[in-house]
Amino acid sequence: MKLNEIYNMDCLEGMKELPDSVCSLIIADPPYKIEGGGGAGKMRSGIFHRNKGGRQLFSYLKAEQYMGEFKRLLKPSGHVYVYSNDKNLLDILYNAEKSGLKLMNVLVVNKGNKVIYGWYMKQIEFICLFRNTEGHAKQVNNNSISNLIDVKFPRGKNRTHPSEKGEDITEIMVNQSSIEGETILIPFAGSGVECLIVKRLNRNFISYELDKDFYELAIKRIN
Ligand SMILES: C[S@@+](CC[C@H](N)C(=O)[O-])C[C@H]1O[C@@H](n2cnc3c(N)ncnc32)[C@H](O)[C@@H]1O
Repeated sequence: MKLNEIYNMDCLEGMKELPDSVCSLIIADPPYKIEGGGGAGKMRSGIFHRNKGGRQLFSYLKAEQYMGEFKRLLKPSGHVYVYSNDKNLLDILYNAEKSGLKLMNVLVVNKGNKVIYGWYMKQIEFICLFRNTEGHAKQVNNNSISNLIDVKFPRGKNRTHPSEKGEDITEIMVNQSSIEGETILIPFAGSGVECLIVKRLNRNFISYELDKDFYELAIKRIN
């Protein structure tokens, strides 16, 4: 395994090849259950892409499929951030706890735009912050940052991936939970924004992306 490479493969397979305690931080944005839209609250799962006829690309992954590996690959005091919407929160929290990762905080990400929904409009996402309980209770590097964070995720023509996240929020996580030279695992590269920020902030990454088109997009973005 080489550092600072994105591998075009299933991370569930890739992670099996990695040694224990290989990384100080994990930033995971897994494919998860989403709402069907239109306010009806119907569930769809996976990722849909307008450039691929709106067809489903991948089923969502259950947290039990990756959380145990996250625990094994993390250094004893390392941090894990996992993106979630409301529908996936229970699955993520339950499986993290079961794997020996302790919830330290939930970041509430205010995306600004509101989506119509029958049970209040929706405009937030969550990022769960866990720590490995094997080591000491390492805190974040700057404890004056609030867990309510306004973000601007790329929209319209600026968006290259259906669930692309922002550079600012990624910078916060990387700066808060790692130092220069450390290694960060990014299991779901998507558009490559997390890899890009890790590289810019002089850390190393190990990353995977299953879809060939997104993989190529991410490679172009980091080079
Ligand atoms: C929610 S998106 C990540 C978006 C990314 N944070 C960004 O800002 O661009 C999840 C990505 O994981 C990829 N994916 C889904 N299942 C995967 C797997 N088993 N291994 C690796 N990548 C996977 C999808 O193709 C998708 O690009």
